[in-house]
Amino acid sequence: MTINIGVIGAGKIVRVRHLPEIQSNPLARIAAICDVVEARAKEMALEYDCKAYFDYQQMLLDPGIDAVIVAATNTTHAEMSIAALQAGKHVLCEKPMATSLSDARKMLDAAKATGKQLMIAQNQRLEPAHVKAREIIQSGELGKILSFTTIFGHPGCEYWAIDGKNTWFFRSEIAGMGVLGDLAVHKLDLMRFLLDDDYTSASATIDTLAKAFPDGTPITVEDNAICTMQTAKGALGSVITSWTYQVELNRTSIYGEKGVMEIYSDPEFPLIVQKSPETGTYFRLGKKSTNIEQVKSGIIDAFVNAIDEGTDVPIPGIEGYKALEALMACYQSAKSGKRVKIGT
Ligand SMILES: NC(=O)c1ccc[n+]([C@@H]2O[C@H](COP(=O)([O-])OP(=O)(O)OC[C@H]3O[C@@H](n4cnc5c(N)ncnc54)[C@H](O)[C@@H]3O)[C@@H](O)[C@H]2O)c1
Repeated sequence: MTINIGVIGAGKIVRVRHLPEIQSNPLARIAAICDVVEARAKEMALEYDCKAYFDYQQMLLDPGIDAVIVAATNTTHAEMSIAALQAGKHVLCEKPMATSLSDARKMLDAAKATGKQLMIAQNQRLEPAHVKAREIIQSGELGKILSFTTIFGHPGCEYWAIDGKNTWFFRSEIAGMGVLGDLAVHKLDLMRFLLDDDYTSASATIDTLAKAFPDGTPITVEDNAICTMQTAKGALGSVITSWTYQVELNRTSIYGEKGVMEIYSDPEFPLIVQKSPETGTYFRLGKKSTNIEQVKSGIIDAFVNAIDEGTDVPIPGIEGYKALEALMACYQSAKSGKRVKIGT
């Protein structure tokens, strides 16, 4: 069976990740690409020999499309995903799943009502060191996990997104959220996955420290955030995120009763487990993606394989919802100056 995929958004992530990964999957075919900037849709359609659309609603009318990737601006994710599900398509939606919990709930409802698959592109779950780290934690080798620190920062979206300095990522009315929604959402999701745990409370401080629009006025979303999380199994953790680091940092440290785990701190050994200062196990597990150097994320293979085999997608909507719930608690805490409970 060939799974015909329509892609919404012909920007950076689609160019460096989704289109090449669909093309390399023997079960999948790029059926159409849609972007409101017509030249972008046409350029990618020419490169990948598929139809170009400039209005996603039109693309959804195409009966030849089985599944849709939603990879436009954050505030469009919910509307596009719901419309695609209701049009009978499976959906892979980029993170953050939505910009409000009520929108995210509507997405879950639409998936349930239509019986179509909704997967969220929390791709850090698929990275080899994270898969191995989860296995080790689950084996009990590190004992109870007591605390963690996870960091994701880079120099900023102007060096990444298709519109450069004029990117929508810096405008609250289009992005809905700043670096928390762009980068911390990956780590909030990842820690739930690694620890097989849920958050119970969050406290956060956010600020716009340095980023400005080309005219010098500050951007309208936060460019830095520091969050402290508590989990149901009793761990304490910090999630640190930034668009103002001069180099990309994307790493995690996990501290258990019986040992320490370092993930993506050492370029040669993506995973290091130490049970005493003298002894360690050093795992060589392949390269990790950075903004400058992409390696295959596996997100398309995971989505396509589940559809092909008729099994549940590995990162269903509810997982994106849980990460968003934690994210929203961080925003609420930053606003109120108080610790916020999660999931009650
Ligand atoms: N999973 C990851 O690691 C990861 C990494 C980067 C970006 N993302 C997410 O992917 C999404 C896209 O990010 P990007 O970096 O590609 O941004 P980008 O700015 O480079 O591209 C976004 C594209 O969407 C198009 N667009 C905007 N509104 C549209 C609409 N209504 N219909 C069709 N197209 C529309 C824009 O014209 C642009 O070409 C964001 O939600 C972002 O958070 C995820």
